[in-house]
Amino acid sequence: MKRMLSGIKPSGQLTLGNYIGALKNFVNYQNDYEMIVFIANLHCITVPQEPAELRKNLKDAIALYLACGLDPERSTIFLQSDVMEHAQLGFIMCCNTYMGELNRMTQFKDKQVKGETNLSGGLYTYPSLMAADILIYDPDYVPVGEDQKQHVELARDLAARFNNRYGEIFKLPEPLVPTVGKRIMSLSDPTKKMSKSDKGDKGCIYLLDDLNVARKKIMSAVTDNFAKVAFDPINQPGVSNLLEIMSVLSGEPIDSIVKRFENSGYGDFKKAVADVVVAELDKIQTRYRDIIASGEVERVLQEGSEKARKIAYKKLMKVQKKIGIEIR
Ligand code: TYM
Repeated sequence: MKRMLSGIKPSGQLTLGNYIGALKNFVNYQNDYEMIVFIANLHCITVPQEPAELRKNLKDAIALYLACGLDPERSTIFLQSDVMEHAQLGFIMCCNTYMGELNRMTQFKDKQVKGETNLSGGLYTYPSLMAADILIYDPDYVPVGEDQKQHVELARDLAARFNNRYGEIFKLPEPLVPTVGKRIMSLSDPTKKMSKSDKGDKGCIYLLDDLNVARKKIMSAVTDNFAKVAFDPINQPGVSNLLEIMSVLSGEPIDSIVKRFENSGYGDFKKAVADVVVAELDKIQTRYRDIIASGEVERVLQEGSEKARKIAYKKLMKVQKKIGIEIR
């Protein structure tokens, strides 16, 4: 069975973008692949975090993994910092990453361009840690949304460089980006990615949003003056985004939705999108509440980290021997 690995960084609450671009796909893939899925809590602290809020977000994220359908019997689910080998290989990867490569990573560049100050060294080097997260498990595929593809490609480059320098050690992973839903856009500015860093923004739907709030966000989504439901991401980015959201969540192809709403106004169309989104959130939230009450999160993390650690430890030891820092 081929292996897949991915992670989410809950530096805030998980979003509909995380669900459509990543989490929903993890759930589908777990039938056909060996899935390893973790919560990237070390990546969260690359930007300042309030500890109590972070703790809640991490627990919620695991509960949401389960509520969305990840099955701990089939998938290995754990918290990144519970497998300390990630950070150790992270440093080794960092020593094999050129600053020029890190300078080209769009996430750091974007923050710099926006003039954000006091950016941390951790934020700058986080793509090296992400490469370690991936390469330590030798996955065949890494399912991610479009914004993370660049980081998986860096992991691939670093694996190839390592293999060249030290002999075959890492498998070269392939990023797997969905065709529909690879980049869910903000509802208030559909030229920007929907993101959890847009705090208080009407543009971002959180998986734990109150259902009425989520409905309102969809109903007030920015559209255009074309007055025509059509899939045209360049000229009608808002409507196209809603079409993608509806298509992924309902399973109905975009063409068919467009046809159904060809004579409708945006109000009716948005109401239909909101119904689909709210029904999905309702299902997830009901399961989430049961999971939080059950104490299952702690048990899943314990078992998952034990399984992951076995693989990670073996790989780290091999790497350390190859590069000459292990003398036993
Ligand atoms: P993060 O937490 O920003 O995003 C988690 C996943 O959600 C996808 N995603 C989206 N997809 C579509 N539309 C959106 N608006 C949207 N927003 C987010 C992301 O592409 C991603 O797949 N560095 C990573 C976490 C990470 C990781 C890893 C991932 C750490 N180590 C190893 C894979 C493998 C991150 O910050 O993702």
